[in-house]
Amino acid sequence: MLDLHCHILPSIDDGATDLPMALAMARIAAADGITTIACTPHIYPGVYENTAAGIRAAIAAFQAELDGQGIAIRLVEGADVHLDPALVDGLRSGRIPTLAGSRYLLLEPPHHVAPPRFEEAVFELMAAGYVPVITHPERLTWVESHYDLFTRLSQRGAWMQITAGALTGRFGRRVKYWGERFVAEGHAMLLATDAHHPERRPPLLAEAREAAAALVGVEEAMHLVRTRPQGVVDDLAPDSLPPPLHACGGFRAEGMQGARDNPGVLARLMRGFGMRR
Ligand SMILES: [Fe+2]
Repeated sequence: MLDLHCHILPSIDDGATDLPMALAMARIAAADGITTIACTPHIYPGVYENTAAGIRAAIAAFQAELDGQGIAIRLVEGADVHLDPALVDGLRSGRIPTLAGSRYLLLEPPHHVAPPRFEEAVFELMAAGYVPVITHPERLTWVESHYDLFTRLSQRGAWMQITAGALTGRFGRRVKYWGERFVAEGHAMLLATDAHHPERRPPLLAEAREAAAALVGVEEAMHLVRTRPQGVVDDLAPDSLPPPLHACGGFRAEGMQGARDNPGVLARLMRGFGMRR
């Protein structure tokens, strides 16, 4: 599996605080079956002023540590990019890294407030040739009043990355409900850990792959953790990768198959807002 959202680099943002913690996270990820990690520290003007050059240097140093310790993880570059009017310029100039140098980038919306012109910002990135991967929409406090915005963006070609721990209940029942809904309705393109800490926010994907398989079947679950993230690392065009289930009618065939195999899933989704705390 490949984890394309992980705050594992030591002492660079609010993720791993030092090298021993970063190594502990890498060991957990390797034991979980993760072979590639995109190191994606925050780039947030005024808060985390990371640049591609600094991230690259930190990755080279950490990769040497992993290799020295015999931890079989390949690191690739990335960033957890916050909205910024200069985003397209930053990408074009190389100051802001994409995922593994590809056309794909992580785009993190503000957590508590729906930003004005968010849709326009996403379309601007797409018009410039990038594929924005919107991070953890299921965890945003404003998702329930804007779910249609995310499905609209998904239908127009933006990608949604759902947090692995959302599907396994690590973020509570409300986030689990929205995470399951994005996956079951075929709007999730990737699962990623968004790990920050070995215990509190661990880099675990396998348990979420199993949870996704119960919703949409084993094949799509593998697309979420392997096929599409590998395609991102290889910079394959989105239309050469498995499409989102909503686009191919697969949700009804495969998603409902998963739900039929596990009637509790369907019942929980049908209860909808009854799930919220
Ligand atoms: Fe993140």
